Amino acid sequence: MSVEIDETFLRVCAIGELSLGEPALAEIEGHRVCMVRTGEREVHAIDDTCSHANVSLSEGEVDGCTIECWLHGSRFSLLTGEPTGPPATRPVAVYPVRLDGDDVLVSVAHPTNES
Ligand code: FES
Repeated sequence: MSVEIDETFLRVCAIGELSLGEPALAEIEGHRVCMVRTGEREVHAIDDTCSHANVSLSEGEVDGCTIECWLHGSRFSLLTGEPTGPPATRPVAVYPVRLDGDDVLVSVAHPTNES
C-alpha cells in the first residue's frame, strides 16, 4: 500500500539519532511507537505494545526485519506487524515511514495493515 506524504506525517527524529538494529521508543500523538532502523536509509515504525500483553516491544531484540518481545519471545515482522511465532496471535499496527532529507517522518493516522 502506498501512502502519500500529507500533513499527518510528523517528524520524529533525525535518522542519525537511530542506531542500526537498536529499537527506540517514540511518542507520536499519544501513540507509543517502536522505531527500528534496519539500513542506512531504512526505518520501520510499529505499535510499541506487544499484542500478547502490555509490554514494550522497543525493549526487545531486533533480528533482521523482525523484533522479539522480551517477555515471552513472540517475534513480529517489522514489515507486516504479523507475529511469526506464539504466544502472540494478533498483529501490531505498522505505520508508514518517510524520509525527508535526514528527517524521519511517521504517520500514525495511516497504519498500513489495518482497515
Ligand atoms: S507479552 Fe509479548 S509475547 Fe507475551
